[in-house]
Amino acid sequence: MINKIYKSVLITGASSGIGLETLKRFFKENIIIYALDKDVSKLEKLQRKHKFNIIQMNLFDTDEIYNKLSNLKIDIIICNAGIGRGAEGILKASREDIEVSTKLNVESYLHTLKAIVPGMIKRRKGHVVLMGSLAGLYPQISSVYGGQKGAIHRIAQSLRIELSGSRVKVSEICPGRTKTNFGKSAFKNKDKAKKFMSGFTLLEPRDIADAIMFSLSVRWRSNISTIEISGTEQSPGGVPIIPVKDPILS
Ligand SMILES: NC(=O)c1ccc[n+]([C@@H]2O[C@H](COP(=O)([O-])OP(=O)(O)OC[C@H]3O[C@@H](n4cnc5c(N)ncnc54)[C@H](OP(=O)(O)O)[C@@H]3O)[C@@H](O)[C@H]2O)c1
Repeated sequence: MINKIYKSVLITGASSGIGLETLKRFFKENIIIYALDKDVSKLEKLQRKHKFNIIQMNLFDTDEIYNKLSNLKIDIIICNAGIGRGAEGILKASREDIEVSTKLNVESYLHTLKAIVPGMIKRRKGHVVLMGSLAGLYPQISSVYGGQKGAIHRIAQSLRIELSGSRVKVSEICPGRTKTNFGKSAFKNKDKAKKFMSGFTLLEPRDIADAIMFSLSVRWRSNISTIEISGTEQSPGGVPIIPVKDPILS
């Protein structure tokens, strides 16, 4: 159960992967839900069974972010939408990969926060959850995506300082490789996408949703700052380091 002080939540990238799993957790909470995505067809189907609000928005549209989000009373913002374009690093990324992914993975986070956090400060209540990545904490062959998620790490740290005394919390969730559509957005080549999502037991969206819900469940005086989640068979850099059959234990 999340802390009872929270009465509303907005999740971006809510129709797939980690966002969708997190959205489903809120159906069990007594809270007003806003689910945001650019393609909302899956969300509309889900709306037949569950009560929540849909915001159809492409987060590339900065004006829409301010127009549609600034006036909402949001207690929890889960900035989750993200893509892996450029995940293979700057030498392989196209100019467009760099522009598009930076716009979504960094710029849209800053604009979403600027639209929503002032209301939280006014109401002296709020929780910002930013979707980081192990790629933002540890160097990988991923200067584009790693750089963007590294920016999210520093945004979380700095925002925590900017907001000190405001009663608005900031948590950053840093998953390792998780079984979602992320590989498809990261690699144009289907074999590479498949390889990225294989080789060891991957995390699943529910593992990440567990961490998000934990950060929201603690007492108001405690702020869960950074949660790092790697698969048991994954090193922080993303490479499987433990053989599936451990030679000593098996
Ligand atoms: N999966 C991993 O291994 C992993 C690891 C570490 C961190 N993460 C982070 O976790 C977050 C969620 O990703 P995921 O793994 O759950 O991937 P996902 O299944 O691809 O979900 C991403 C969601 O974001 C939406 N989205 C993409 N571009 C958008 C835009 N311009 N405007 C609005 N929504 C947009 C996608 O919609 P469409 O499907 O319509 O494109 C999708 O619903 C991302 O920030 C990602 O960087 C993932």
